[in-house]
Amino acid sequence: MAKKTSNDFVQMVANGEKIVYLTAYDYLTAKMVEKAGIDMILVGDSLGMVCLGYDTTFPVTMDDMIRHCQAVRRGAPNTFIVGDMPYMSYQASDEQAIMNAGRFIKEAQVDAIKLEGGGPMIASRISAIQQSGIQAMGHIGLTPQFMGQIGGYKAQGRSAGAAMKLVNEAKLLEEASAFAILVEGVPSVVGKAITERAGIPILGIGAGPYTHGQLLIYADMVGFYDNFTPKFVKKYANVAEVLTNAFKEYAQEVREGNFPIDPDHTYKMKEEEMNEFLAILEK
Ligand code: KIV
Repeated sequence: MAKKTSNDFVQMVANGEKIVYLTAYDYLTAKMVEKAGIDMILVGDSLGMVCLGYDTTFPVTMDDMIRHCQAVRRGAPNTFIVGDMPYMSYQASDEQAIMNAGRFIKEAQVDAIKLEGGGPMIASRISAIQQSGIQAMGHIGLTPQFMGQIGGYKAQGRSAGAAMKLVNEAKLLEEASAFAILVEGVPSVVGKAITERAGIPILGIGAGPYTHGQLLIYADMVGFYDNFTPKFVKKYANVAEVLTNAFKEYAQEVREGNFPIDPDHTYKMKEEEMNEFLAILEK
């Protein structure tokens, strides 16, 4: 299947087709995600928690992001990939944002980048990145890189004033020429209001059913990452249990001397070579 472009996403919205968006962080998972026909992959800075074992996304570096985006690109050569700009890779200035967004394109061949936040400073970064020829996705609502200010990992936009602020932020980012916006952790009515007023694709994660598309963190939805599961995650599998059981069975078979003994999992020599070898050993 041909790789989709941002124009295809606009067309999907016009046709009333939902955009399916999923994270991936490595080659093997990316291969499966592409095989499943997912429209868009996010290499999120959530990789800090899901792959690197940090408690938050703050320690994730540009080099971490580039390395994982490269692996995902190798696994999913025909899928639209969004690289997530990590903490302090764009906050300092428009110039810093352009340089780091450029690294994603140049070193990892992603199709677009995403950055968190909705105020005038972020609008300026998005505009600068777009003007340098790179497609930028906004991300508003529950934005983990602004954890201190938004009061922790919890739903946003739950008062009329806070909801209106998000509607206005979405408009601001659209005017700054974001090609799409991800809305995270807001009541469905807020996701709906933002989507109805938007002229660009609105993707949601924990933003209800009305957005133009949905994102989930793959490790949450297959039950791989089990440290914490947000309310909005539906579990489609229990991979952690499947893998843990496989590891236990392997350990037991090795300890009992039952692996590897069957001919399917061991190599043989031709009989005459083996006899010659054994004769040499006996000399
Ligand atoms: O890093 C990530 O995976 C994200 C999602 C949580 C939206 O930004």
